[in-house]
Amino acid sequence: EPVVLGVDVGGTKVLAAEVDTAGRVLATAARSTPGRRVEVGLLEAALTEAVLEVADGRPIAAVGLAAAGFVDREGERVMFAPHLPWRGEAVRDRLAERWGTTVVLDNDANCAAHAEIAHGEAGGDALVITLGTGIGGAVVIGGRVHRGRNGMAGEFGHMQVVPDGLPCECGNRGCWEQYSSGNALTRFARERIGHERTSLERMCGGIPERLVGPMVTDAARDGDAVALQAFASVGDWLGVGIANLVAAFDPEVVVVGGGVSAADALLLDPARAALTRALVGASHRRVPPVRRARFGPEAGVVGGAVLARRAIVG
Ligand code: BGC
Ligand code: NA
Ligand code: ZN
Repeated sequence: EPVVLGVDVGGTKVLAAEVDTAGRVLATAARSTPGRRVEVGLLEAALTEAVLEVADGRPIAAVGLAAAGFVDREGERVMFAPHLPWRGEAVRDRLAERWGTTVVLDNDANCAAHAEIAHGEAGGDALVITLGTGIGGAVVIGGRVHRGRNGMAGEFGHMQVVPDGLPCECGNRGCWEQYSSGNALTRFARERIGHERTSLERMCGGIPERLVGPMVTDAARDGDAVALQAFASVGDWLGVGIANLVAAFDPEVVVVGGGVSAADALLLDPARAALTRALVGASHRRVPPVRRARFGPEAGVVGGAVLARRAIVG
C-alpha cells in the first residue's frame, strides 16, 4: 500500500512521518539539520534518509514538505530561509525527481495551519504561531491560509519588536523570534548558567552550549527558578507579539504550536496575561482565546501530509 508522508524541515531537525487520512502519525524518522551554511546537497541527503527510513521499502504516493522558510507563490521554490541553506532553490521538482513521487511544498507554519484547519483548532479566522528554532506564522481567513503576493505572508517571526535589538539570522535586528522562540528560551537560560543557582547547570554537564529547549521545559516543570524565568520572559514576549497581531487581524482564535508549546501553561499563561495587558481596547472587545495546537510539534508533518494527499486526490 503506497504511503503518504509529511516532512518537516526545521532549523534544528528534520522529521519525516507517515500520516493517515485522520491526521494520525503512524511512523517517524528524524535527522539533525546539517546547519544553515552547508551545501544544500547535505540537507537534501538528510531529508532523503529520513524519507526512505519511514517508507521502509513501500511505494510513496506523495510527500508534503513543510519548510522553515519563505516558499514562493507557486509552491515550487524555497526563496529564503534564515535557518536553512536554501536560497531560491527549486526544491519541489528536484526532490520529486530524486524520490520518484509527487512532492508539494509550503512554509512549515502554513502546513501547521493546514493540519489545524483539517483536524484541529484553527477554523474560520485564526492566527497560527509555531515556536521552534524561530517563530513561524500563518494567517487563516475564512478557513483558508492567506499566502500574499509573494507567498510570504505570515512571517511573524521577523516583525521588528526592538529597534536595533538582537541580531537575527535573517540579517535584520530586533526580530520577534529573537525574544520568543526555542532559541530565545535557551539563550535566556544559557546566559544565567554559572551565575545563578539552577539545575540546568547539571543537566547540560556545565556546558551551556549543550543546553537544549526540552531541558528548560523539564527544569521549569520541577520548579527551577531560572527555567521558570525563561518561560516567563518568552511567554511575555509571545503575548506582546500576539497583541499586535490581534490588533491587526482581530481573529477568533490564536493557536500556538511548535516544540516550545509542549510546555503548555508555563508558556501560554504568561502569554495570555501579556495579551490582555497589551491588546488595544481589551475591555471593549472579545479577546481571542490562545490555544495550544492540537498537533503541537507534529503539526508541520501532519499539515504536509494533508497537502500531499490533496495533491494526489485532486
Ligand atoms: C522563518 C519562517 C519559519 C519559522 C519557523 C522563521 O525564521 O523565517 O519561514 O516558518 O522560522 O520555522
Ligand atoms: Na507562514
Ligand atoms: Zn529576523
